[in-house]
Amino acid sequence: MLELIKDHFEKGGNITELLKKDDINTTEAIEIAYDFQAGSYIKGVKENWGLWQEQVAEKASVLSELITPETTLLDCGTGEVTTLVGILNNISIKKAFAFDVSVSRLLKGSGFVTDNLKPHTNLDIFLAEIENIPLANNSIDIVMTSHALEPNHGRESIILDQIFRVASKYVVLFEPCYEEANEEVKSRMDKLGYVRGLDDYFSERGHQVVKRFPLQVIHNQLNPTWCWVIKLDTPLDNPNNDEECYICPKTGHTLSYRADLNVYWSEKGMYGYPVVGGIPLLRAKHAIVMVRP
Ligand SMILES: C[S@@+](CC[C@H](N)C(=O)[O-])C[C@H]1O[C@@H](n2cnc3c(N)ncnc32)[C@H](O)[C@@H]1O
Repeated sequence: MLELIKDHFEKGGNITELLKKDDINTTEAIEIAYDFQAGSYIKGVKENWGLWQEQVAEKASVLSELITPETTLLDCGTGEVTTLVGILNNISIKKAFAFDVSVSRLLKGSGFVTDNLKPHTNLDIFLAEIENIPLANNSIDIVMTSHALEPNHGRESIILDQIFRVASKYVVLFEPCYEEANEEVKSRMDKLGYVRGLDDYFSERGHQVVKRFPLQVIHNQLNPTWCWVIKLDTPLDNPNNDEECYICPKTGHTLSYRADLNVYWSEKGMYGYPVVGGIPLLRAKHAIVMVRP
């Protein structure tokens, strides 16, 4: 199947449109569509360095009002880590985490981190899906996304429930806003299966939206970015500062790194998760039965 998709991609076809089912992009379709694009964001940043600096500075200015040197930050759907690296270069926090569903993008992103992230910045990268984030409840101060909820129309509640489960102090979203979009933008969002109804979700769950505004620096006029800052009152339950921060996406048990096997493993859960190119693969589909390794 990947060979057929490759053929379509090389002829200039749109993979998202090809794989969309009943107007919904499955997580597998998102994985494939973005994996084929691996490297394109880094190339874009290198070709538009000044614009990238402006974009990340604007996003960092939102976060800088919320952080202390003790803050932990999680970037969901980090892609090639370009946005997060730019943000981290503008702020100082204790530790950042980032994940995406595309391993090729994360591998390219690791190189971008090595070359561009300011020294002494603590950043861990792993592979996961937003539908099942392998981190404990209320374990991260601020959970953010940047155009990562975007292709997930149909799963808005599932992925937002996960983001709010893991966050302790704030959720910060940089995403398109269907309800504020003009007709041209809306029809593009319809065609690509983009998220909608974020405000409805916040009001249904009683979340306190403290900021909601369009960003000034826009890369694509057909895909403008809005920012939502949601304040939470949940105490930080399980601070994620140590090596043993991941949980098994199948059982919820804490995973420990086994250097002898290069796997994350839970004795209680009896599953192991492999590491590829330094990136732990933490989706339920990567689980390996490991009762007594
Ligand atoms: C438009 S890109 C944005 C990437 C990055 N946040 C940035 O600002 O450059 C969307 C990214 O979100 C990831 N993504 C989308 N839905 C996801 C999901 N359900 N689970 C994990 N990653 C997801 C995609 O793989 C892709 O890399």
